[in-house]
Amino acid sequence: MKPVEFVLVGAGSRGAHAYAPYAVNYPSDAKIVAVAEPDPIRRAHIADQHDLSDDRCFASYEQLFALGQIADAAIICTQDSMHVEPTLMALNAGYHVLLEKPMATTPEQSTRLVMAAERANRQLVIGHVLRYTDFFYLLHQKLESGIIGDLITVAHRENVVHWHMAHSFVRGNWRRKDESTPMILAKCCHDLDIMVWNIGKSCTKLSSFGNLTHYRPENAPAGATARCLDGCAVESTCPWSAKRIYLDLEPFAHLTQGMDPRGTLPNQWPFNVLSHDTSYAAREAALRTGPYGRCVYQCDNDVVDHQVVMMEFEGGMTATLTMHGMSHEEDRWMRYDGTKGTIIGAFSGKGGRIEILPHRSQAEIIEVDGRDGHGGGDTGIMRGFVAAIRGEAPPRSSARESLESHLLAFASEDSRLAHNVVDMPTYRQQLRDSVSKSK
Ligand SMILES: NC(=O)c1ccc[n+]([C@@H]2O[C@H](COP(=O)([O-])OP(=O)(O)OC[C@H]3O[C@@H](n4cnc5c(N)ncnc54)[C@H](O)[C@@H]3O)[C@@H](O)[C@H]2O)c1
Repeated sequence: MKPVEFVLVGAGSRGAHAYAPYAVNYPSDAKIVAVAEPDPIRRAHIADQHDLSDDRCFASYEQLFALGQIADAAIICTQDSMHVEPTLMALNAGYHVLLEKPMATTPEQSTRLVMAAERANRQLVIGHVLRYTDFFYLLHQKLESGIIGDLITVAHRENVVHWHMAHSFVRGNWRRKDESTPMILAKCCHDLDIMVWNIGKSCTKLSSFGNLTHYRPENAPAGATARCLDGCAVESTCPWSAKRIYLDLEPFAHLTQGMDPRGTLPNQWPFNVLSHDTSYAAREAALRTGPYGRCVYQCDNDVVDHQVVMMEFEGGMTATLTMHGMSHEEDRWMRYDGTKGTIIGAFSGKGGRIEILPHRSQAEIIEVDGRDGHGGGDTGIMRGFVAAIRGEAPPRSSARESLESHLLAFASEDSRLAHNVVDMPTYRQQLRDSVSKSK
């Protein structure tokens, strides 16, 4: 069968390193035929890897989409605030679209994208990669099997490791709401999507609390300098020391085994976010002048570092989500309690473990491998998207299903700020009214 042909929009961390490699690893499934990316080094990397001629390399998505449809599908991996325009252009030109989460930065725009895809009769798959992991698929199947009876309550935690919090949400691209999205959307639309999928009912009420408590100027220890390499008095004991993270590579022992920290690192996240050149000298220079060398207490961040969401679903069942950026390790924990038993899950970059504990039958413990990007989800979503385009199987979530997780996240942020309970049927109705009024 002919491979499905893709254009790639945005060849940064996700475009170049999460999705484009699928075409290299599975050439009978997927082929990248064009790229739009303003950064010449990133553009050239994709051109080399996928053997693209100059007339298939563009500095921006406007130039690419001006050609009309030249492939079956578009993979759109620009930054959060730059999702809507290229997605509408792609859908209008006739492309199926794999769009990175979050769909958009407002509930109205997210809804409009879903409507546009439905109107165009194109697949619009949102980068909710966790649905495509073996771990979450197995968990979903176990819950669907009814082994723990009717669900009564769910608790889900997203434990963001302290250095990742600092990298993305204090020093990095998602540190400010006005430049990206609220953290509960940026980090937890995945978690809300998994919860909605597993619970299988509509959320009726929601409330949320959360704050930026720790990563603030008033918490800077005495002697802290604006940059970690500027002679900071507490550098050697600070968990967020940029030297510890990006030069000594302490948190990455699993990735860098046998490698000299003073050498050139693989072209991969998070090192390649500092600079294209991942040599020690280039990383050190980036820390002296760029955003990732800043003291975590002296950045211009405003997104929360912890947030909880409480939800009630149809039929009265309840669920909670806790997210925080203080964790020792990055992982997700979850507990589903039903009338006939309990399921406990733990999922991290090292794999996962699911304990199925029925009240009246044998317990089962399943260890799930999943060290690949996002527990295998990056590859899985590409495989699922290809199958959906070929008409072999529907994607694991339609854009409309993905929208629900986004609406819960937007409503959580509203509730956090207003200190109120959001009635979700009213919220959805007001959104429908606002979208149809502005048509
Ligand atoms: N699914 C997930 O788990 C997951 C994980 C991380 C990030 N993301 C999301 O993926 C998206 C991309 O994140 P990233 O880390 O790859 O960001 P990035 O900044 O590394 O990549 C974005 C790329 O878009 C390019 N770009 C800018 N303007 C453009 C234009 N006009 N035309 C074409 N390309 C343009 C930039 O030059 C950059 O290379 C974000 O929305 C982010 O929230 C999703």
